[in-house]
Amino acid sequence: MQWATLLAAAAALAQNAAAQNMLRFACSQLVVERTDPLVNPGMKYTPHLHQIVGGDSFNVTMDPNNDPAQLSKCTSCTFNQDKSNYWTAVMFFKAKNGSYIRVPQIGNGGPQGKLVNDGGLDVYYIPSGKVTAFKKGFRMLAGSASNTDASKVKSGAICHRCWTSASENTFVGGAPCSGSDTVAIPKSPTCKLIRQTIIFPTCWDGKNLDSPDHQSHVAYGQGAGANGGGACPSTHPTKLPQVMYELMWDVSKFADQSMWPTDGSDPFIYSMNLGGSAAHGDYVFGWEGDSLQKAMDNNCNLNTACPKAGLTVQTSAQYGACKKKQQAPEDVDGWLKAMPLGEMAVKA
Ligand SMILES: *[C@@H]1O[C@H](CO)[C@@H](O)[C@H](O)[C@H]1NC(C)=O
Ligand SMILES: *[C@@H]1O[C@H](CO)[C@@H](O)[C@H](O)[C@H]1NC(C)=O
Repeated sequence: MQWATLLAAAAALAQNAAAQNMLRFACSQLVVERTDPLVNPGMKYTPHLHQIVGGDSFNVTMDPNNDPAQLSKCTSCTFNQDKSNYWTAVMFFKAKNGSYIRVPQIGNGGPQGKLVNDGGLDVYYIPSGKVTAFKKGFRMLAGSASNTDASKVKSGAICHRCWTSASENTFVGGAPCSGSDTVAIPKSPTCKLIRQTIIFPTCWDGKNLDSPDHQSHVAYGQGAGANGGGACPSTHPTKLPQVMYELMWDVSKFADQSMWPTDGSDPFIYSMNLGGSAAHGDYVFGWEGDSLQKAMDNNCNLNTACPKAGLTVQTSAQYGACKKKQQAPEDVDGWLKAMPLGEMAVKA
């Protein structure tokens, strides 16, 4: 009994010691279009649709010698100093009649407070001890857009949770990618929201800003989950802030199973026309100067201004107003006869 109490106290202490502040903020959609300057630079109408958030210097090329912090006039993310770009696939609902519609998105509530976005995603920078912020020109990719094998997914980093509470403010369950979270996109009419988590690697080779597969210059550390990442391998010794994307897909309008496909296909799929195994996220660093390093060093927290690091915040109306015209124009809203995949989407 005494030992159990002591051990519990020690565990609580260790947890407190490990608990660090982190950035957690909302980003609204800048644009939804078929571009991907990381994997398909220069290409319009890339194989699948993305939602992009962040600095408005985003374009189809994104030459790593250009600095998004210098070129952007606005950012659709909360902090004025963050002109990075973050992008992911979008989720579609497939109706019985074969038409598709994008699943609406909202910001997360959760124990740390409500985030407000106009579509888009919530971004986290979670430090674990002393971290080295990304350098100008840095970019990386998490996950694989063509993967259909759930066993190849690092389930402690990329996962989905069925959120049965009607309100995003009522937190459901424990830490991201723990417990009953799944690689597959949940399909139950009881899900009101589907929370998608994409956690990026936290260890860097210390040299390359990118790599041919956009992945091998970084590596996951020991352990799993949204804890800043564990010890780094000797090949990738430099500890980075842990970048995490959180997406809240509002599936509440699609709970009526009489709308669902009758041929056994999934009602919710990503824009590659694939399920959760193909979930992926792209990151192009674009914080001004050393503002991210300062934010990490000064324990800046959540989505509040942080004078020590020179961080200032925008209102949701301000960051929600930073928009960009589609560079690959096509219909992505409303009911579509086909997903915008390979060929232009056709409005139903
Ligand atoms: C992308 O932006 C850069 C920097 O502003 C510019 O030089 C380049 O021409 C743009 N590329 C396209 C295809 O618009
Ligand atoms: C397909 O079904 C959806 C949902 O019931 C409906 O809103 C949409 O109009 C239908 N599309 C066509 C082309 O019938």
